[in-house]
Amino acid sequence: MKFFIDTANLAQIKEAQELGVLDGVTTNPSLMAKEGITGRNNILKHYVDICNIVDGDVSAEVISTDLKGMIKEGEELAELHEQIVVKVPMIKDGIKAIKYFTDKGIRTNCTLVFSCGQALLAAKAGATYVSPFIGRLDDISTDGLNLISEIRHIYDNYDFETQILAASVRHTMHVIDCAKLGADVMTGPLSAIEGLLKHPLTDSGLAKFLEDYQKGN
Ligand code: G3P
Repeated sequence: MKFFIDTANLAQIKEAQELGVLDGVTTNPSLMAKEGITGRNNILKHYVDICNIVDGDVSAEVISTDLKGMIKEGEELAELHEQIVVKVPMIKDGIKAIKYFTDKGIRTNCTLVFSCGQALLAAKAGATYVSPFIGRLDDISTDGLNLISEIRHIYDNYDFETQILAASVRHTMHVIDCAKLGADVMTGPLSAIEGLLKHPLTDSGLAKFLEDYQKGN
């Protein structure tokens, strides 16, 4: 299972990279704005800065919603760095753009996916990654994890190569449940990754080991 961090915060990306378990980064316009990164040139530079920190794939999202605009933007993003994966929204022109990019050998991440039908279309168009937003489904009393399970089932039926990138992951149980269900990738905040470390028995066990060591020395 690949671990991506879902942020545009360089300090957090570095911290996750230093932990040694990071496989990539996902961003979106909201995450960029949260870090105060605005203006096309600054945003493009920020993507390169992120690529220079991590070894893996970095999703960079197009802003256009028409095919021509998405192609222009996506090609520009893909040119930036070999680690860039062009993130395209799940809309009609988005599917056309994914097909176009796939034929050109440009990798894509189909974002804002909330149903099996959308995931099926993304795979048919050849998306490298499909991003079901599980947290946002949970927010509206719909089982986000069930969507992961259903997409896994459909993709396995036909050996689709599109990787299921569980997105809008909010906490450690999302990560663990996605791993159980066979999501290929999860993207979440640093807290969800670091939360996997924690167990009170680890802390008390270590404290006791150190205490006993001190007694004997
Ligand atoms: O990976 C998608 C993500 O950025 C959305 O997360 O927490 O805003 O639903 P969230």
